[in-house]
Amino acid sequence: MVFRETCSRNLRYSVSGASLPKHHKPIVRCFGKFVPETFGPTSQTCPTGWKTITVSLGRRKTMDFFSVVSNRHSVRKYESRDVEEEKLDRILETINLAPSAGNLQGYEIIVVRDQVTKNALDEASYGQEYVGCAPVVLVFCANHLMSGSKYGQRGENLYAVQDATIAATFCQLAATALGLATVWVGAFNPQAAAEALQVPDRVSPVAIIPIGYPAEEPIRTPRRHLSDLVRREKY
Ligand SMILES: Cc1cc2nc3c(=O)[nH]c(=O)nc-3n(C[C@H](O)[C@H](O)[C@H](O)COP(=O)(O)O)c2cc1C
Repeated sequence: MVFRETCSRNLRYSVSGASLPKHHKPIVRCFGKFVPETFGPTSQTCPTGWKTITVSLGRRKTMDFFSVVSNRHSVRKYESRDVEEEKLDRILETINLAPSAGNLQGYEIIVVRDQVTKNALDEASYGQEYVGCAPVVLVFCANHLMSGSKYGQRGENLYAVQDATIAATFCQLAATALGLATVWVGAFNPQAAAEALQVPDRVSPVAIIPIGYPAEEPIRTPRRHLSDLVRREKY
């Protein structure tokens, strides 16, 4: 049986299966703009013929890890629709699982939805307008004081930045898994960004991540060949 219908979120979905037994619950696959998402149906009437299936978007099953990684691309144009608070919470909870030096979590995240602040960040990032246009922007700040308190100079200069950037990576992957898109913005004036966000001394913004629903096909970027990238045993 193959079923095609347009569901309420304007996503095309199909169900396939030869002779499904009664009460069998097929997997319903929804294909969005870029990312196939898998959902479990809440109800199914009959396994044969053309039938209606109710899809529960709440019971989303997430993509497997490798699909998330290969579906993440920088996206610099977003739909105007908002990012749901539940999705943002899920992203933040995922970030909070990231490893950090000594488990100190030497970083903070600033969630920016306010348009005035987003405009200031847009300006601080030399007019990269997707910073101002994204519905939500996360700014990852290294807390040099926190990491330095245990690890001295190395903590202050390196671990705090590493903690913040690992967290930003988790953010990008979590957003992708939820059908959202991001881009890492590293080119910005740190003083201007810190001022806009009222960041205290010994805390510095290291990555700006706009998040939104994708409104463009991401450009597939090439990578170095593994034979060039990977050295065995010694450099
Ligand atoms: C540290 C860092 C800084 C970056 N800074 C910017 C930036 O300022 N503006 C931008 O548009 N993209 C920026 N990017 C995104 C890269 O251009 C992008 O990740 C790279 O071209 C690979 O493409 P992909 O993300 O689609 O795989 C940055 C990425 C990293 C990791």
